[in-house]
Amino acid sequence: MRLLPNPFRALVIGSSGTIGGAFVELLKNTPSCSEVIGIHRQSEYRIDYQNLDSIESCATALTHKGPFHLIINTIGVLHSNNWMPEKRLDDINAEQLAELMKINAIGPALTIRYFSKLLDPKGSIMVTLSAKVGSIEDNRLGGWYSYRASKAALNMLIKTASIEWARTKPNATLIAMHPGTVNSELSKPFRGEQIGRSAKEATADMFQVIENLKNEDSGSFISYSGEKLPW
Ligand SMILES: NC(=O)c1ccc[n+]([C@@H]2O[C@H](COP(=O)([O-])OP(=O)(O)OC[C@H]3O[C@@H](n4cnc5c(N)ncnc54)[C@H](OP(=O)(O)O)[C@@H]3O)[C@@H](O)[C@H]2O)c1
Repeated sequence: MRLLPNPFRALVIGSSGTIGGAFVELLKNTPSCSEVIGIHRQSEYRIDYQNLDSIESCATALTHKGPFHLIINTIGVLHSNNWMPEKRLDDINAEQLAELMKINAIGPALTIRYFSKLLDPKGSIMVTLSAKVGSIEDNRLGGWYSYRASKAALNMLIKTASIEWARTKPNATLIAMHPGTVNSELSKPFRGEQIGRSAKEATADMFQVIENLKNEDSGSFISYSGEKLPW
C-alpha cells in the first residue's frame, strides 16, 4: 500500500540548496501534491543550524501549516570558505569536526525531533539526505574524516529514531537517503559538474523511491536507485 495519500502535503527543508530547490519544483509539478512549502535560512519560516534554537521555533511556527505527509530535509555541508574535506589524519581539526557534526548530524537530529510533530500520524514519510560516504561498511577510500563521521552519526541517529517510531509513530516512515553524485555547490570542488547528474534527474529518481516506500522500509539507508545501503 502506498504511504503517501492523494492528495498529500509536503515540506522541503533546505529549499535554497540545489537538491532542495529541485525537490520543491518537482513537488509543485506533482499533481497529487496539493501544497509544498520550502524553508531555509532566509525564508519566512527560518531554519538555521548555526542557531539550533531556530529548529524548534521554526517547527512551532509552522504548526498551523501542517500536518504534512512528506518532509524532506536536504540541509548539509561538505566544505566552507575556511576548510575543505580532510585528505589525511594531519588535516583533522576540532573546529571542522565540530562544525560538520553540528550541521550534518545535530541539526538534522533536532529537526527529526521537532518536525516529527508536524507529520500526519495516520501516514507520513520523513526523509533526511545522508551520503553513501557516511557508510562505515562501504568506506574503502578513506579521507573526508569529518564529512564521513558526521553522516555516519546522522545515520545512527536516524536508525535509532526509527526504532522508537516503530512504537510511538507506527504509521510514520523514517529513512536516510543517498542522492548519488549531483551537480551542486556542494560537489562543485570535487568535479561535481563533470561527474554529477542534474538535481532534476536526481530528485525524480529519489521521488520515485519515496513514492514506493513501504512502512517496513523505516530505519533504512536507501540510495536514489532504491538499493538498500549498508550502514
Ligand atoms: N551533491 C551531491 O553530490 C551529494 C552527494 C551525497 C549527499 N549529498 C547531500 O545532499 C544534501 C543536499 O546537498 P546539495 O548538493 O543540494 O548541496 P547545496 O546546494 O550546497 O545545498 C545545501 C543546503 O544546505 C543548507 N545549509 C548549509 N548550512 C546550513 C545551516 N547552517 N543552516 C541551515 N541550512 C544550511 C544550504 O543553505 P544556504 O543556501 O543558506 O547556504 C542549502 O540549502 C546534503 O545533505 C548533502 O550532504 C549531496
